Amino acid sequence: MVMSHLEQLRFLNTEDVKGVIGQWGTSVFVYDEAIMQQQVQQALAFSAPFGLTVRYAMKANPNSNILRMFSSMGVAIDAGSGWEADRALRAGIDPKDILITGQELPKNLVELVEKGVQFNACSLHQLQEYGAKFPGTNVSIRINPGLGSGHSKKTNVGGSASSFGIWHEYIDELNDIATEHKLNINRLHTHIGSGSDPAVWMNAAKISLEQVRTLPNVTILNLGGGFKAALTQGEAQTKLSEISSVVADALQTFYDETGRKIRLEIEPGTFLIANAGSLITTIHDIVDTGYDGYTFLKIDSGMTEILRPTLYGAQHPLVVVTDGSEDEQYIVAGHCCESGDILTPDPDQPDMLKTRLLKKASRGDVLVIEGVGAYCAAMSAINYNSFPRSPEVVKKIDGSLVEIARRQTLEEMLQLEAQI
Ligand SMILES: Cc1ncc(COP(=O)(O)O)c(C=O)c1O
Repeated sequence: MVMSHLEQLRFLNTEDVKGVIGQWGTSVFVYDEAIMQQQVQQALAFSAPFGLTVRYAMKANPNSNILRMFSSMGVAIDAGSGWEADRALRAGIDPKDILITGQELPKNLVELVEKGVQFNACSLHQLQEYGAKFPGTNVSIRINPGLGSGHSKKTNVGGSASSFGIWHEYIDELNDIATEHKLNINRLHTHIGSGSDPAVWMNAAKISLEQVRTLPNVTILNLGGGFKAALTQGEAQTKLSEISSVVADALQTFYDETGRKIRLEIEPGTFLIANAGSLITTIHDIVDTGYDGYTFLKIDSGMTEILRPTLYGAQHPLVVVTDGSEDEQYIVAGHCCESGDILTPDPDQPDMLKTRLLKKASRGDVLVIEGVGAYCAAMSAINYNSFPRSPEVVKKIDGSLVEIARRQTLEEMLQLEAQI
């Protein structure tokens, strides 16, 4: 078979696409159950000599059906706010399986912790507040190890330019707070960025383990997420088995030297679900800007469903679903009244455009955006221009299609408005 240089559909076939559009129209998210389960199995196989907990970073996609599916496979939860923790509880997740790691101290922290939810202090202030409310208990701390990595500056959450976690040089200060409130620091957490460079990730893992030496009661090391999922052709993907053997060796050596058995936690979001999502859209218009300009495919979606290209120049595979054999260079534009609503930014200069070679398209053709399982339905300019939220559907292992979120209505959008 001759391999095309163009991106291909990942898990949908043309029959699926027709079936989805027949039932839900466009735009619509579809998630593949088989891919999600394979990714979970790979994460659960991460080798850790003294035990492993895999937490799903639910910020990637918090739909309750997805939380329950991952939970039924033995995956716990990383909640990024008190609201996410509440959402996980409502989905039926056991409170003791939820760890909150957030930028903002939850206003209902006491209620959540009393239910059994665990808390990870991400600043000295958070530690102080937690200690005042729960003296004499176990607590977890997030450290900024002094280096970070992400596919862009906006996804890098370690190093001196990042506000995430307690700066690694403030161990004395955090020990003072722990002593004041008789807190037992039993877990050290680091998360250096999303879609990280595997070499930097491993370096951060080693630095974090060194930090565990200075915290004698730590029994759990949480290395966060940041495993790179290859979204586009030719992109490197983190090989979990390779990095896990390095981490497992480091944990074993640490035990040999100190006699301390450290349990490992990892918190993948992207790795579990990014490549399990496709967004089916319709090309509703094609315009051009003259001989020296561009040809634009305009789709019935955009930053309302997928903000990542606008936010940080993220590159997602784009597939025009057609039997035609001709190719053409296009810019793909979203439906929002924002010049930045572009699906084909230049990866090196995200404010600029870069044409993409796609199958030659006609108005009315379907365009599928791949790699949209993580940080798309959950993290977009929802309801801008009053476009309703798109539905979400799961393609089950037996091929059937099940709705997990329906399309929003205009009435639902207006519900919060007062009439004065
Ligand atoms: C604390 C924490 N853990 C895990 C993750 C998941 O990262 P990724 O989606 O790269 O796996 C994030 C993402 O921002 C995070 O903030």
